[in-house]
Amino acid sequence: MSRLTGSPAWQALAQHRQAMTGWSMRQAFANDPDRFRRFSLDACGLMLDYSKNLITDETLGLLLNYARQQDLEGWRNRMLAGERINTTEDRAVLHVALRNRTRRPMPVDGVDVMPAVRKVIKRMKRFVSAVRFGAWTGYTARPIKDVVTIGIGGSDLGPFMVCNALRPYHHPDLRLRFVSNVDGTQIAETLGWIDPQTTLFIIASKTFTTQETMANALAAREWFLAGGGGVRDIGRHFVAVTANTDAARDFGIDPENMFEFWDWVGGRFSMWSAIGLPIALAVGMEDFEALLIGAHEMDEHFRTAPLEANMPMLLGLLGLWNINFWNACGHAIVPYDEYLSRLPAYLQQLEMESNGKSIDRDGQTVDYATAPVIFGEPGTNSQHAFFQLLHQGTQLIPTDFIASADTFNPVIGSLGDHQRILLANLLAQSEALMRGLTEDEARAELTAAGLSGAALEALLPHKVFPGNKPSNTLFYGKLTPFTLGALIALYEHKVFVQGILWNINSFDQWGVELGKKLAKPILADLSGDGPVDGYDSSTAGLIQWLRERIPQAEHQSVGSLQEF
Ligand code: F6P
Repeated sequence: MSRLTGSPAWQALAQHRQAMTGWSMRQAFANDPDRFRRFSLDACGLMLDYSKNLITDETLGLLLNYARQQDLEGWRNRMLAGERINTTEDRAVLHVALRNRTRRPMPVDGVDVMPAVRKVIKRMKRFVSAVRFGAWTGYTARPIKDVVTIGIGGSDLGPFMVCNALRPYHHPDLRLRFVSNVDGTQIAETLGWIDPQTTLFIIASKTFTTQETMANALAAREWFLAGGGGVRDIGRHFVAVTANTDAARDFGIDPENMFEFWDWVGGRFSMWSAIGLPIALAVGMEDFEALLIGAHEMDEHFRTAPLEANMPMLLGLLGLWNINFWNACGHAIVPYDEYLSRLPAYLQQLEMESNGKSIDRDGQTVDYATAPVIFGEPGTNSQHAFFQLLHQGTQLIPTDFIASADTFNPVIGSLGDHQRILLANLLAQSEALMRGLTEDEARAELTAAGLSGAALEALLPHKVFPGNKPSNTLFYGKLTPFTLGALIALYEHKVFVQGILWNINSFDQWGVELGKKLAKPILADLSGDGPVDGYDSSTAGLIQWLRERIPQAEHQSVGSLQEF
């Protein structure tokens, strides 16, 4: 047993879990009509209902004790004070400074970072308004029509997700496109539809060394030059967002066209920095700042609300309870909101890159589960895809249901109001997961449908739903930039909370390095014709197989302008 699993608070939770064997959520709702009120909470325009969890008052008390034992509030304060809590990279973790809307200084190593943050926001404002209002033109004096962001991971997922989510707020004449994959298809397909004279490329990379981003950025530059642009015109069509301005300069980007951020901003927490430039171009600086304000409100809630009324802390603790004491191995994110279709992908990186760790802060191998597999799709589509497993599968997968009361697209057809149909489905799913369907109830349904005897008995076990499956429901009025900012910050803080509860560093990502390193010699061997040495037989065999089939590479420019 580790220091953590052997600790009094963990042990108390383990005993409590034992005592809850056979506990029924359905029964708990029947016994307590007040359960929703007692286990729900409002903050920053979000309403969280966590009553459909496998919890009692005692559970919450024990979880809060555990949080205190792990000094959760102390760690939160250390993060907000700019301490270098990312110990393996020796960095502070201060993305909250990017959305700090108070006059409070945010120091890193004793130096307030706020003046630098405000300076970049000011430059973004100037740039965004010039592009959106047509003052910034391409090399033939035509206004920008397409903005292509080239980046990957944290330099792509957040801005892409938010641009998608805020489509109702977009500038009507600017199209936002994102290229992340080094699969040439993505850049080729993108370049095929745009005009070099009216396209702005944002090269987004914290390190400015990421292979995929550099390969795509170079391809875009070559395409631009082949399409009529000159080297002197690059400045009007390429800007960089990076913490490595030297590398961006070496790449050929004019320092005037660089938007800086800093090593205390982790890649997957960077959309609030200039990495959010595509968002600001899409929705305008005012709405980008509304996103920051929403996130800031959530930061303030996280900073000041007591443990038991603190939304990110509660979400983090509920996750711990489900994962470590009820063996949940996955977590479904199901937005009943088409605009949030990229949220699951975004949260995959946020949660799995942050907390997919098995070594604790003290360098010891953990003896408890950490981040679950995050997956999801919008509802109701997901109901027709993976909900079968959630209801009747062998694994416990808690679900987060997310939806707005109001829609930007009211559609009322002959079957009724789409928004109401959508929300009814959400509520029905969370209810079904909680209450299930007993054998008696299933039998009654089958009998009412006219079945009896052997036919009924054969079908009966398939019709039973065990229920008792935990879920959270997050509602908001309408998906505004403010609400979205609060929602994202909520999950960011939840990830931080869980890192502390598991005693792991949520802010490094060493696990992505090995593959990057191994890709280098493989790339050389895929191109060469010498012996394939130094690999296991599988890798060597696969390299050989590909070598014989990949067509000889010829240098060629990608994309040709299609008919508009
Ligand atoms: O996947 C590893 C990673 O380092 C992520 O953490 C990061 O968001 C992504 O690569 C992109 O990195 P960069 O912004 O430096 O290109």
